[in-house]
Amino acid sequence: RQKLILDCDPGHDDAIALLLAARHPALELLAITTVAGNQSVEKTSLNALKVCSLAKILDVPVAKGMNQPLIRPARHAADIHGDTGMDGPEMPAPTCSLAPQHAVDLLIDLLLHSAGDIILVPTGPLTNIAAAIRREPAILPKIQGISLMGGAISVGNVTASAEFNIWADPEAAELVFACGRPITMVPLEVTHQALATEEIMQRLHTLPGPVPAFVADLLHYFADSYRQVFGFPAPPIHDPCAVAAIIDPDVIAFKEMHVAIECRGHWTEGRTICDIYGKSGFSPNARVGYALSFERFWSLLLDTLQLYE
Ligand code: BDR
Ligand code: CA
Repeated sequence: RQKLILDCDPGHDDAIALLLAARHPALELLAITTVAGNQSVEKTSLNALKVCSLAKILDVPVAKGMNQPLIRPARHAADIHGDTGMDGPEMPAPTCSLAPQHAVDLLIDLLLHSAGDIILVPTGPLTNIAAAIRREPAILPKIQGISLMGGAISVGNVTASAEFNIWADPEAAELVFACGRPITMVPLEVTHQALATEEIMQRLHTLPGPVPAFVADLLHYFADSYRQVFGFPAPPIHDPCAVAAIIDPDVIAFKEMHVAIECRGHWTEGRTICDIYGKSGFSPNARVGYALSFERFWSLLLDTLQLYE
């Protein structure tokens, strides 16, 4: 089984990524680390614990991480995810609690004591990952790879130029993209193909148990947000795509290229500059997704949700 650590800011789609990572038979989820992004780290951590309690994921540590980007003030996404960061489903207080370690310490510990066989899957701003690399560069050769949801080849979603996860902490993203380890970038071009359409919702509603019902509740709220803010006919399920990329090599089509992060642009702060045609002369530092196999993705996700009791 492929070992991974999910670094997330739940977040409607982060919650679904968590459910996929914890139960897919090809994966071994070692830890869930939380970061500020969609909401404060207090809120995203509480949400992670609530999801774990509901889905009975009780053997995976949840560690709270950075509450602020490396050098900037925090900027959240209440317009999309609500005041709690995961508005919509009615959820009881969690029955599990946070791990004693800080997320950055846990990331460092797990990596240093590993055989170099852990993939990091960040689905929020890259603050925790960048902080861990800064704090203990000896983890670098131990990172098998990084499969992240973030960035866009063309237009953004939080500004005309930038995608939220990169825009929220561009300095962290710059550090991670320059770290020299294999990076898989799953941008908006891919995740905007992972739409929870009417047909998908019908398939989801046929699955029994509280976990698929919770996912349906998440998606109803998320659908309203995306209709109101972007005029989308169905919501894009961004974060599970970064998990799916490490399960099935054929679910996303990739191209190797150099990606630079715009930290200081007047109009373009947080943009991922994807050098598709090799104009920069820089060697590729990432493989960037550009197409999603819709049916492969949804079968993989729905089949996994069905495994919850
Ligand atoms: C990303 O931003 C967040 O709102 C989502 O959870 C996703 O990780 C999409 O831009
Ligand atoms: Ca996220």
